[in-house]
Amino acid sequence: MNKGIALTGIKPTGTPHIGNYFGAIKPAIELTKEYDARYFIADYHALNSIKDPQKINDLAYEVAATWLACGLDPDKALVYRQSQVPQTFDLSTILLAFTSKGLMNRAHAYKAMVQSNKELNRDPDDGVNMGLFTYPVLMAADILLFDSDVVPVGKDQAQHLEMTIDIAQSINHIYKKDVLKIPKPLIRKSTQTIIGMDGRKMSKSYNNTIPLFLPPKKLRKLIMKIVTNSQTIEEVKDPDKCNVFALYKLFATDEQQEALRKMYLAGGMGWGHAKNELFEVMNELIFPMREKYNKLMENKDYIAKVLDEGSEKAREIASKKIEYVKNILGF
Ligand code: ADP
Ligand code: TRP
Repeated sequence: MNKGIALTGIKPTGTPHIGNYFGAIKPAIELTKEYDARYFIADYHALNSIKDPQKINDLAYEVAATWLACGLDPDKALVYRQSQVPQTFDLSTILLAFTSKGLMNRAHAYKAMVQSNKELNRDPDDGVNMGLFTYPVLMAADILLFDSDVVPVGKDQAQHLEMTIDIAQSINHIYKKDVLKIPKPLIRKSTQTIIGMDGRKMSKSYNNTIPLFLPPKKLRKLIMKIVTNSQTIEEVKDPDKCNVFALYKLFATDEQQEALRKMYLAGGMGWGHAKNELFEVMNELIFPMREKYNKLMENKDYIAKVLDEGSEKAREIASKKIEYVKNILGF
């Protein structure tokens, strides 16, 4: 029996962080056991905000190296660059003709920009390019082009998945045929929103990230800056209302969590101690992946080869799908 298809993408807009790891990368890699996986660098999505060719290219390599360092096996999963699969843009143009402007008006990222412009007394569309406005359509093309069954993502992408399903269903309805496969989002409850240094969602856009592969000294320094309250060492502390403990839970075993929880509740423990415990567990889990990442980043030719080979295979699959779709539309 054919395996189902799992697909996800990460934009090269910044150095991958632990939110990306737990929200998307780790679950996606686990899925490769049961699914045919297609994981890509969403570089056309990044173009909306990055216009520096060197930067966008460097970040694309960082994201690819992160996938590989975290355990993605390019012999078992397709790893490719969106920009090297032009059929994506064919399908994206097609989907635009079936997407109402009203649907795009409701997209969170666009709405947030308009809202912030209004608050600053600017023109509502200030700084909004059409790439940002039609972002969910390009994402729908990424997903629908590969007949994806499941899409592992963090909770922030749920609306984009709903829009993808909406667009696909309207096409299937118009042509009275299953032209496009309806995908399912895969959003794990326990890791759907990883918090950042300040307790808000960890995101490049909030500048509150903990990069996945920081060298140990820098990682320790950053952890020491996680926002905590001003309780004294003696005071009893609530682990369930603490940014440090929330992050600790991602890395520690049940026994380790229980031990630290007891220390919070007993009083006499300072934030420095909790942060140190967090550094230890985090560094231990990340260490082997960081070693691999650093080696990969010294061998960009290898990364380029993986991406080129993956992109070639992706184009083969994509061109069949686009032929099929165009045929149905009358082209
Ligand atoms: P960012 O918000 O930092 O720009 P991206 O949009 O590039 O991150 O996210 C890439 C993937 O990582 C997406 O699937 C997204 O849902 C997931 N992700 C990003 N931040 C988090 C987070 N804080 N918690 C859980 N998943 C996240
Ligand atoms: N929009 C996603 C993000 O901001 C990245 C992305 C682009 C994606 N295309 C995708 C995720 C297709 C899953 C499937 O993180």
